[in-house]
Amino acid sequence: MAIRKVIIAGNWKMHKTSAETRSYIKELSAVLDGVNPDSEILAAPPFTSLAVAVEEAKGTRIGIAGQNLHWEDKGAFTGEISGPMLRELGCSHVIIGHSERRQYFGETDEKVNLKIAAAMNHSLIPIFCLGESLDERESGKTFDVVKRQLLGGIGDLRPLEPKNFVIAYEPVWAIGTGRTATPEQAQEVHAFLRKELSLLLGKDFANSVRILYGGSIKPDNASTLVSCEDIDGGLIGGASLKVQDFFGIIKEGI
Ligand code: PGA
Repeated sequence: MAIRKVIIAGNWKMHKTSAETRSYIKELSAVLDGVNPDSEILAAPPFTSLAVAVEEAKGTRIGIAGQNLHWEDKGAFTGEISGPMLRELGCSHVIIGHSERRQYFGETDEKVNLKIAAAMNHSLIPIFCLGESLDERESGKTFDVVKRQLLGGIGDLRPLEPKNFVIAYEPVWAIGTGRTATPEQAQEVHAFLRKELSLLLGKDFANSVRILYGGSIKPDNASTLVSCEDIDGGLIGGASLKVQDFFGIIKEGI
């Protein structure tokens, strides 16, 4: 991969207090000096740590992402956070449709679609996650599932600009399990997604949009995955929580 700018993004999930966030971002920005500047580094802390993360990341090359948002700007939605709130804090990106949101919080393709539209309305770059479960893979439904998720998520959204949009293919069976997709398995789905994107939005979009892989990425498997033709970086959960591991992935992946 060389034609698209690599993104290495850490999805912290429900980890790290504000104090832990502050020291992590400090430590990470210090080691990033001298790393290939032609890549994007993102961190997605929990909501309560976003303000501190943005403050510490100011003047560094680390961008800060939310992990979720509600599609309405405001209203009676106890416990939810909206696009304008993330934007005002200084977030540049937001993860949408993560499989844990789909699995534990009932997020459907329709809700994911509303959330992507809301993010775009507020100039937040969506990191749109999709991926099949183990059952779906084993019963040969991987391509049907990711196509349904892709069309459900963005089928009716226009205009979409490739530089303001990111897709993350995350096979559910590889998330947090230590069982990474092989580079061949991941590349096959990434190429399929690019082909579907080309039909939906045209060749230019399909060739320029970044498609990340996520699911048990570690320093020792990052480079073989990210060197695949259609893999443009990684969305990293567990291994993003320690600066040393995340930095190891950054060095290997770009
Ligand atoms: P993992 O998580 O790296 O711990 O497998 C990836 C993700 O959920 O984004």
